[in-house]
Amino acid sequence: MITDFIAPHGGELINRLATPVEKKDFLAKADSLPRVQLDERATSDLVMIAIGGFSPISGFMEKDDYLSVVEKMRLANDLPWSVPVTLSVTEEVATPLTVGSLIRLDDPSGKFVGVLQLTQKYSYDKKHEAINVYRTDEDQHPGVKVIYDQGAINLAGPIWLLEREDHPQFPKYQIDPAASRAMFQEKGWKTVVGFQTRNPIHRAHEYIIKCALEIVDGLFLHPLVGATKSDDIPADVRMRCYEIMMENYFPQDRVILAINPSAMRYAGPREAIFHALIRKNYGCTHFIVGRDHAGVGDYYGTYDAQEIFGEFKPEELGITPLKFEHAFYCTRTEQMATAKTSPATKEERIHLSGTKVRAMLREGKTPPPQFSRPQVAEELARAMKES
Ligand code: ADX
Repeated sequence: MITDFIAPHGGELINRLATPVEKKDFLAKADSLPRVQLDERATSDLVMIAIGGFSPISGFMEKDDYLSVVEKMRLANDLPWSVPVTLSVTEEVATPLTVGSLIRLDDPSGKFVGVLQLTQKYSYDKKHEAINVYRTDEDQHPGVKVIYDQGAINLAGPIWLLEREDHPQFPKYQIDPAASRAMFQEKGWKTVVGFQTRNPIHRAHEYIIKCALEIVDGLFLHPLVGATKSDDIPADVRMRCYEIMMENYFPQDRVILAINPSAMRYAGPREAIFHALIRKNYGCTHFIVGRDHAGVGDYYGTYDAQEIFGEFKPEELGITPLKFEHAFYCTRTEQMATAKTSPATKEERIHLSGTKVRAMLREGKTPPPQFSRPQVAEELARAMKES
C-alpha cells in the first residue's frame, strides 16, 4: 500500500461522524436535549470539523485555543491556525445551558444535525477579534459584520455530526478529505495543487491554475460553496462555469472538481493560511495564492495573503504556497500574462475586476473573451438574465 504522502494538519484526519450506535443514542435523546440553532456558517463549520476538513479541530474552540488563534495565529499547542472556529450565541441562549451536558444542534431549518458536548461557555471581545483576524473593526467588512451581529457568548466543546448527507445541489462533487486522499493515491499523484475560489472562473484563474499544473501531478479544483456575501455569484452558476471548463479547457485526467462546503470569511491573509490548511487536510501538497486572496474591498494589500506565509516555518504549515502575481490579458502578446512574463504597458493590459464584470452583466453585456471563455461568459449572462 502507498503510504499517505501528506499528513493532515496535526497528524491525524479527524472524523467526528456519529457511529451508528451514537446516532441511535442521540436520536433517542433528541427531544430531551437542550437545543441550539446554528446559522449557515456554523452548520458548515460543523460539517467541516466532522469530515476532517478542519483537522486537528474536533469541536468549537475553547477559550485558550480561541485567544491563541486570534492573537498568535496558533492553537494553544502552538500548531499554526489562523481563523477562529467558534459557535456564538446570545446570553439568553447560553444562560440555561449547563457545562458538561450534551446540546442538540439544529440547522437553520430546525433539523437536528449534530451534538455538542458543552465544555465551556465564555464571553469574548468582538473588536479584539475583528482587529486581529480581519485587520479592521469596520462593520462594512462582511467578516467583521458577522462578528458584530452574532451572540456575545461562545459555546465550546467536541461535536458529532449525526449524518453525512449528500449535498442537495452538488452530490457528485461532494468529495470529503478521506475520499480525496484516496483518489490522489489511486491516480498516483504525488503532488497536488489545491485551488480555492469563490468567483466564476475567469482567464486569470485559468492561467495561474495552468502554470501550477505545469509543475505538479494534479489539480484539486475546490470552489467554495458555503455561505458567501450576497453580491457574490451563486454557487450553482459558478459550478456550471467550472463544469464548462472541465469539459472544454482542462485535461480531465489531471483535474478533480470538488466542492468545499465551508463559508467565506473574507479575512484575506489569515484566510489564505486557513484555506491552505484545509486543502492540506484534503491531501494537497501545494496551494495557489494569487492576488488579494480571499480579500474584499480595499482592506488588504494585493500580496498580503502571500506575505503572511513568511510568518511560519514551511514545515509547520506542511503545504507549499504557489504564489502568483496579478494576471491580466496582454494585448501585445495576445495571451494571459503577469508583469513577470510580459512587457505590456498599462494600456496593453486588460484586467476586469469581479465588480466590473458584475456591472457588465447587470447591464446585459457579455464579458469579453479576454476576460472569460465564451461559454463561461454566456452562462454568466444567461444566469444574470434569469435572476
Ligand atoms: S477568493 O476569495 O477565493 O480568493 P477568487 O475566486 O477570485 O477569490 O480567487 C481565487 C484565487 O485566484 C485566489 O488565490 C486569488 O488570489 C487568485 N486570483 C484571482 N484573480 C486573479 C488575478 N487576476 N491574478 C492572479 N491571481 C488571481
